[in-house]
Amino acid sequence: MQQTIRHIAVVGAGTMGSGIAQTAAMAGYTVSMLDISPVQLDRGLATIKKSLAKLRDKGRLAESEEVVLSRIKPDHDLGPVEKADLVIEAATENLEIKLKLFRELDERTRPEVILASNTSSISLTKLGAATRRPDKVVGLHFFNPVPLMSLVEVVKGLGTGNGTINIAVAVAEKMGKTPVVVNDAPGFISNRILCPMINEAIFALEEGIAPRESIDTIMRLGMNHPMGPLTLADLVGLDVVLAVMEVLHRDLGDDKYRPAPLLRRMVDAGYLGRKTGRGFYEYDQKS
Ligand code: CAA
Repeated sequence: MQQTIRHIAVVGAGTMGSGIAQTAAMAGYTVSMLDISPVQLDRGLATIKKSLAKLRDKGRLAESEEVVLSRIKPDHDLGPVEKADLVIEAATENLEIKLKLFRELDERTRPEVILASNTSSISLTKLGAATRRPDKVVGLHFFNPVPLMSLVEVVKGLGTGNGTINIAVAVAEKMGKTPVVVNDAPGFISNRILCPMINEAIFALEEGIAPRESIDTIMRLGMNHPMGPLTLADLVGLDVVLAVMEVLHRDLGDDKYRPAPLLRRMVDAGYLGRKTGRGFYEYDQKS
């Protein structure tokens, strides 16, 4: 019998976590949005309010903003996971942090609860193996900006059960998304293809083949991409792009995935894109 999901705990209130929390609340779920940093929780809530206002102005919100917001309970403690029917982890893209979190979630949630990760590149098989329930560990990979992007890549680890996949697909559909199931592999499908394209654009910039605007315009007008690869890197976060390239390079063992040196230097400098106000472009305010 398929279990009923009513209460979703989202761990992490950054760009992706707050977007997932918002989308889940818009779909009628009770949501615990959890982050150890109260500052990040406030920032996440502010992002959600801004996004809900935009959706309301466009007539794309079925209920009032207050009703949607009332379903989201922020907390700086992991405690609420004990009552959740599903956990979606959207913490920093770092293997050690995620492994530690999955061990703790395994301890603190009911044994039948599915533990999903929004990871962009980390192996779901590895995260599953850190728990006593690898059959209930799955990837629910959302795309930025979460409220607007239709896709959820559902990632099946080596140990993930078919029942878990069915529930993950049903939850993504209830959130108004189109789920696509793929097997666990470095970068899955989305980032196996997207990040090398962005990385190549950074090499082209570094080699002085064309300025940033020209590279982006070529991909927008020539390939009909909604935004150019350097603008998109700023949206995704340069730290995330670098983390994905490092996983592809290491796990696939092919130098064609070598991160561009300029990408590494920019991450070292803290130029992470929109979230820090500077990436390949400059932004007025942190967003
Ligand atoms: N909530 C609500 N509204 C939002 C929003 C949000 N979070 N983010 C943007 N909008 C609004 C914009 O403010 C804008 O509103 P106005 O029309 O009032 O100005 C509206 O949506 C449309 O935005 P744009 O005018 O910029 O127009 P657009 O047609 O370009 O749409 C976009 C924006 C959907 C982001 C589009 O540019 C796009 O699809 N870009 C590509 C995004 C993409 O590839 N995302 C995936 C990244 S990869 C990833 O996330 C996963 C990973 O693992 C790395």
